[in-house]
Amino acid sequence: MKIHVLGGNTSKFGELWDTSPRELGRQTMKKALQSAGIEARGIDALFVGNMLSGIFGNQENLGAFYAEELGVQVPAFRLEAACASGGLALHSAVNALLAGIYETVMVLGIEKMTDHQQDVVSSALMAAGSDEERQTGITFPGLYALLTQAYMQEYGMTEADLAAVAVKNHYHGSHNPNAQFRFPVTVEQVLLSAKVADPLKLLDCSPISDGASAVILSTKKHKSKVEIIASTMATDTLSLSDRSSFTSLGAVVRAAAKAYKAAGIQPKDVDVAEIHDCFSIAEVIASEDLGFSKKGHGALDIASGKRTLGSGEVILNSSGGLKACGHPVGATGVKQMVEIMEQLQGKAGDRQVHKAKVGLTHNVAGSGSQAVIHILKGSI
Ligand code: COA
Repeated sequence: MKIHVLGGNTSKFGELWDTSPRELGRQTMKKALQSAGIEARGIDALFVGNMLSGIFGNQENLGAFYAEELGVQVPAFRLEAACASGGLALHSAVNALLAGIYETVMVLGIEKMTDHQQDVVSSALMAAGSDEERQTGITFPGLYALLTQAYMQEYGMTEADLAAVAVKNHYHGSHNPNAQFRFPVTVEQVLLSAKVADPLKLLDCSPISDGASAVILSTKKHKSKVEIIASTMATDTLSLSDRSSFTSLGAVVRAAAKAYKAAGIQPKDVDVAEIHDCFSIAEVIASEDLGFSKKGHGALDIASGKRTLGSGEVILNSSGGLKACGHPVGATGVKQMVEIMEQLQGKAGDRQVHKAKVGLTHNVAGSGSQAVIHILKGSI
């Protein structure tokens, strides 16, 4: 059974203080329908990915909330897997389509974060961590700083090597009209930006963001030129301290192996990938766990320009990634799919990867407790 990506839309990411969650969801779903060329009544079910609406807005019942905005009375689900909530919503939608329960579904990822102070948001995000991590007072920048230190010790990566991730992603984001940050940065600017959790600096971190993204998937025969050929998920321990490695994420390795097998492809066949770079080190480790770079070479390959638009090799984060595009946590996984859809349709404008035919999305929860991978194929 083929799963077609009929269309999708991503809102502007950033500080959307004058847009309510209702309005943001409504506008994004409407534009996704327009992109797919169908009416709301053609949607059989709605899957909503979101992490923080309950904590920040006292609004948990998001299936009904957004079905109302879409103007439909179909089955509607809210899915939560921390920063991989969007990916989980997509994976659940794909499974429901494969089971033959629905023919055409919408997946909405949405998050409003910037109406709250940074310390309140950091603390809310730690809902994705473990009890013992919360008891220490650590937050996600600190957890990823530990991964960075372990990687630097094991492979001798320097802070300047790592800075190349932000330089690349800000460069790509400068071509993305929806990105939160559209300014390029240099290695020097990254190295001189404020320390957040040693050795991670401000410009190594994804920001706190508002945003939404919606995509429409269908098993019906359509003119769509983009198909999902793998949708996989794997889990790991909540606590970093229970892991056997700090320089590889087991959930990503397991989900990726299943995805490549299901798609019948190898990492070298991927033209463009949206990577979950919540902190620069996450992209370095992912590029190795996904098989694009050898162990210990992820940052060097990024610094050499191999992962930058125009290199002719696999391009990472053409959207600007979480770093420059922004990271409204529940929206990110869906936004990744919309970016790959546009790449495979040849509609990515200044960010277009030449002759992109195969794309991958990599969406991670917490410090690697869950990973969702999708592989998409285009036929242009
Ligand atoms: N990259 C680049 N610039 C950033 C930025 C980022 N990640 N975060 C904020 N800025 C900019 C702001 O635009 C602002 O610029 P301005 O002064 O020109 O307006 C300035 O830095 C200060 O912004 P502010 O909102 O006060 O930053 P902050 O110090 O409160 O927060 C972080 C910065 C990095 C701590 C915060 O973005 C953060 O916690 N990020 C990680 C989020 C996270 O953990 N997500 C889940 C991942 S698992």
